[in-house]
Amino acid sequence: MPEKMHLLAFLMHTPINHMTMSWADPADRQAAGLGSIAHWQALAQTLERGCFDGMFFADVPAVYDHYQDNTDVAIKYGVNWPTHDPVALIGIMAAATRHLGIATTVSLASLHPFLAVRSMSTLDYLSQGRVGWNIVTGNARSEYRAMGLDVVEHDKRYDRADEYMQVCYALWRGILPDAVVADREAGIYADPAKIEKIAFEGEYFRCHATPSVLPSPQGRPVLFQAGSSGRGQRFAVDHADVIFAIQPDLPRMQTFMRKLRETATESGRDEDLRVTFAVQPFIGESLEAAEEKRDSMLAKIPLEAALTRISGTFGVDLDTVDIDKPLQEITTQASQGLVSAMSSMFNDKNITLREAVRLSGLAGLIPQILGTPVQVADQLEEIWRETGCHGFNVTPAIVPGGYEDFVDLVVPLLQRRGIFRTEYDATTLRGNLVG
Ligand SMILES: Cc1cc2nc3c(=O)[nH]c(=O)nc-3n(C[C@H](O)[C@H](O)[C@H](O)COP(=O)(O)O)c2cc1C
Repeated sequence: MPEKMHLLAFLMHTPINHMTMSWADPADRQAAGLGSIAHWQALAQTLERGCFDGMFFADVPAVYDHYQDNTDVAIKYGVNWPTHDPVALIGIMAAATRHLGIATTVSLASLHPFLAVRSMSTLDYLSQGRVGWNIVTGNARSEYRAMGLDVVEHDKRYDRADEYMQVCYALWRGILPDAVVADREAGIYADPAKIEKIAFEGEYFRCHATPSVLPSPQGRPVLFQAGSSGRGQRFAVDHADVIFAIQPDLPRMQTFMRKLRETATESGRDEDLRVTFAVQPFIGESLEAAEEKRDSMLAKIPLEAALTRISGTFGVDLDTVDIDKPLQEITTQASQGLVSAMSSMFNDKNITLREAVRLSGLAGLIPQILGTPVQVADQLEEIWRETGCHGFNVTPAIVPGGYEDFVDLVVPLLQRRGIFRTEYDATTLRGNLVG
């Protein structure tokens, strides 16, 4: 267990955060603020006031297209449509803060590693070492369709990603310390002998290049990963500084940590495992008030919108599945991943897929943490102590109000208990989050 809990805000550059239809809630400001630099900068400043390690953007670059085999329902309900590029927000939010880390998802599906390193490391350099990169292999069919590419099979995506990272590491380590001399009198900018040129010929990538972006104070961006299959977790323990996970409750979080530790041992990972679990807090004056808030939001989510979201996440068209059957009776080959995740989420209760999808409208499969600020702090502390996790990806339903409440009401409690920082230790994301 780390000495202190770590906190990341968990967001998307779309009209919703992780709650389907959040844009329609009267308290929401994200949809209106989508094109406002002031909105994103104020949010970053709120999180920095709350000493968050950073903010993290989930991203799927193209629109969910599985439900009814088109994108119309996603467009109609604003289910990750529009989906703007979160990379564009890094510079904007870094400019308004001094310590906050800003991490974003970049899919490896169609971006050559040379360009990915160039973009992410330039932002890391500009922000003085505050950038993180969530590596996803690209599991959305629509992303491949948009680029005119064939969908790559699951395990092969990770083999390709392993090779992708070899190119990135070569680019990152290629500029040796003191390479830049900037000697005005001699008229020499840098020493070519201290730049290692790359000649990479792999199965998936070729890269013959001179590393072209200077390292930031943290060297390279902090790497995140969230694979949940066996192959995905192997990739995560091999590459990630911090691993993201979604698990429905404490026992499953404990099981997840146990299995991941085994994978890390088998893989010979020689550094600590750092896992952050996603949670959706609902803070109220009482537990009943928080539950009421959650229930009233849930009641306003059209089933079609939730079906589109889950169809997109799991790559199945739920319009072709009998959703009134109990979860356990659904056997379509295409939806087995979905059924097992749903059964796990809803504790193997004998509910129909319709009910499971409806309940997951709130935040996909992310669990809710409900109650007064004290009750929310208690639950976070319990999960942190009982699992040995590194911390949490906090994703309130309403932005920015949910973060303001969390920062003003929950963070001071965690600080008083001595389990969360009262000031930043470092100026880089790696320094604060990884240590
Ligand atoms: C907390 C968390 C965040 C994730 N964020 C993204 C994301 O932003 N974009 C994306 O395409 N996939 C995202 N994923 C999906 C994972 O990258 C991964 O594909 C998924 O967990 C399935 O695991 P597998 O690839 O090992 O089968 C996320 C998963 C988790 C648990």
